[in-house]
Amino acid sequence: MSESILRVRNVKKSFGGLVAVAGVSMDVEKNTLTILIGPNGSGKTTLINLITGVYKPDDGRIFFDGMDITELPSHEIFRLGISRTFQIPQPFRKLTVLENMLVVYPGNPGEGFFSALKRSRWRKFEEEAVERAFELLKFLKLDDLWDQEAEKLSGGQMKLLEVGRALMAGAKLLIMDEPIAGVNPVLAHEIFKIFRKLKDEKNLTILTVEHRLDIALRYVDCVYVMAAGSMITSGKPEEVVSDRRVIDAYLGG
Ligand SMILES: Nc1ncnc2c1ncn2[C@@H]1O[C@H](COP(=O)(O)OP(=O)(O)O)[C@@H](O)[C@H]1O
Ligand SMILES: [Mg+2]
Repeated sequence: MSESILRVRNVKKSFGGLVAVAGVSMDVEKNTLTILIGPNGSGKTTLINLITGVYKPDDGRIFFDGMDITELPSHEIFRLGISRTFQIPQPFRKLTVLENMLVVYPGNPGEGFFSALKRSRWRKFEEEAVERAFELLKFLKLDDLWDQEAEKLSGGQMKLLEVGRALMAGAKLLIMDEPIAGVNPVLAHEIFKIFRKLKDEKNLTILTVEHRLDIALRYVDCVYVMAAGSMITSGKPEEVVSDRRVIDAYLGG
């Protein structure tokens, strides 16, 4: 039995006279890797901004885990377990990989944390947080880099660190916008393999916008397709790629 973790119902968003999202509905099933595709300007980023509370819809409702989140501010939505990678504070370039994980762990001492961090490094920090961080870093194949400053990571490793920080913060639904843009193909495949493992073994659901279909499609469970502000179809990757409407949307520009 599948169960939706996210339900989007007829959401609309205009900017001035421009209709960016024209009444879109979508269901993301629990423990799936779902991808949102569509030509440039079709409204994908706006839709994820609506889901994560960056914008409020002009109309329609959004439900997460059965709860109506339409009117909630983005920090509340984040606290409930929807993480958009960029919503987490960007990695601190001068902090190590491990420290970057620890600062987003719920219950960290907050404002005073930075001075605490300087005084005693992470040694005094809860053992539990360090253990959890290493478990996730291993999963993401970043554990050997734990004491590297974040600024020394490659673009792809930085993406994985963002994913790790989302998990560290307690994400149930991870939302990403083009996570493998600019990442070399070998690491891009690796990232999508890790996404699959995360959903299979860490009880995570992933919704991602992606342009590089040659890489992404073989890893995903479900594809949603937007064009000109509307959801034109959805289904399994093999169904969607042969759908005439999808081909027309891409070719028609
Ligand atoms: N904050 C904004 N103000 C005005 N227009 C916007 C804004 N954000 C997006 N748009 C417009 O909405 C449309 C959809 O954009 P976007 O959601 O970024 O598409 P996609 O991510 O699919 O490329 C585009 O025409 C874009 O120019
Ligand atoms: Mg976009």
